[in-house]
Amino acid sequence: MPGTILVTGGAGYIGSHTCVRLLERGFEVVVADDLSNSSAAAVDAIARLTGCQPSFEQVDLTDIEALGGVFERHAIEAVIHFAGLKAVGESVAEPLRYYRTNLLSTFNLLDLMARHEVFDLVFSSSATVYGDPEQLPIPEGAATGPTNPYGRTKLMIEDICRDVAAADPRWRISLLRYFNPVGAHPSGDLGEDPRGVPNNLVPFVMQVAVGRRDQLRVFGADWDTPDGSGVRDYIHVLDLAEGHLAALEHIDAGCDVFNLGTGVGASVFDVIKTTENVSGKAVSYEVVDRRPGDIATSLADPSKAIRDLEWRADRSLEVMLADAWRWQSRHPNGFDS
Ligand code: NAD
Ligand code: WQD
Repeated sequence: MPGTILVTGGAGYIGSHTCVRLLERGFEVVVADDLSNSSAAAVDAIARLTGCQPSFEQVDLTDIEALGGVFERHAIEAVIHFAGLKAVGESVAEPLRYYRTNLLSTFNLLDLMARHEVFDLVFSSSATVYGDPEQLPIPEGAATGPTNPYGRTKLMIEDICRDVAAADPRWRISLLRYFNPVGAHPSGDLGEDPRGVPNNLVPFVMQVAVGRRDQLRVFGADWDTPDGSGVRDYIHVLDLAEGHLAALEHIDAGCDVFNLGTGVGASVFDVIKTTENVSGKAVSYEVVDRRPGDIATSLADPSKAIRDLEWRADRSLEVMLADAWRWQSRHPNGFDS
C-alpha cells in the first residue's frame, strides 16, 4: 500500500501527528502548508521523531499555480486534506475569509487531483456539522445543521465531495468528522501550539497549569449534564492520526463519511481534575456565563468507523492529558521554546 501522500496542512496540529504515523508506516509524505497557523519547526520535529524527512512545500492552497507546482514536482498517489481555517469565533467575524479560503483551497485541490488523475482523498470534516444534535451519541446519519460559517464550510465541502464522487466513479473519498482532538505525541516534542489566546479548552487548561495564564473561565455550570459543565468526546490526536491511515487503507469507491470519536464523554470539570492529577499543578478557574453557540453535550457514535475502518480510539482521558502536559511542560511557549 505505501506510496506518496500529499498532506495539506501537514505542519498543523492534526496534520503533523498524521505525518508521523504515515512516515512510520513507510509512506512518502509531501507537506503543503502556507504556515499561516503553524511553524516550520513542526516539520523538523516530524523528521526528528521518525528519522524520515517529509518533503515540505510552503504554498497557499488558494493559489492554484503554486499548488499545481506541487503536483508537477511529486508523484502524488493520495491526498489528506487538513489545510484550512478553523476558529469558530473568527469565522463569525470574518465569514468571507473563511468561505474563500476553505472552499477555494478545496476547489483548487479537487481540480488538480482530477487533472493529475489522483482520485483518493481523505478530508478533515468536523462534528460541528451536526450543530446542536437531536440524538446522543450522534450517528453519521443524524441531521446536520452547523451554526457558524466555519461549520458551514465543512458541510459545503462534504456536499461538493459527494457530488464530485457521484459524477465520476474513479473518485474514492473519505470524509472524517472529528470530535474534540486533544493530546500530543508522547515524546513531548510535537503538540498543539495555538497562536494567541487558545479557543479550545485543553490548550487553555494546559497554559493555566504551566503558569502562562492565570485562570480558566468555565463557560457555564448550569448545563443539563451530570456536573453542569459541558460534555465532549475528546479523542487523542494520535488515535485520530491512526484513523486517517485506516481511512486510506479502507478507502472505497464513492464518498463515505465517518465519525472519529471515542463515544465516551468528559466534562470540563473532568478535564480540570484530570489535568491536576497528571500535572501535579492546580488549575484555577471561575465559572462564567455560557459561551454563545455552545451546546451541552457532543458525543460520537463511532461504531461505523470501528466496523468499516477496523479502527478504534482507545487512549484514555488520562493519557490524552498526560501527553498534552508533557508537551506543554517541555515547551511552555510551544515550538518557540
Ligand atoms: P491547524 O490550524 O493546526 O492546521 C491547519 C493547517 O493548515 C495549518 O498548518 C495552517 O498553516 C494550514 N493552512 C491554513 N490555510 C492554508 C492555506 N490556504 N494554504 C495552505 N495551508 C493552509 O488545525 P488542526 O487543528 O490541525 O486542524 C486540521 C483540520 O482539521 C482543519 O481542516 C480543521 O478544520 C479540522 N478539524 C479540527 C478540529 C480541532 O478541534 N482541531 C476539529 C475538527 C476538524
Ligand atoms: C470544549 C468545552 C466549552 C474553553 C470546538 C469547535 C468544533 C471543533 C472542536 C473544529 C465546552 C468549554 C472551553 C474555555 C470552557 N473544531 N470551555 N472554557 O466547542 O466542543 O468545539 O473545537 O472543527 O468545531 O466548535 O471545543 O474545546 O472550545 O470546548 O469552559 O476556555 O469546554 O464550553 O463545553 P468545542 P472547546
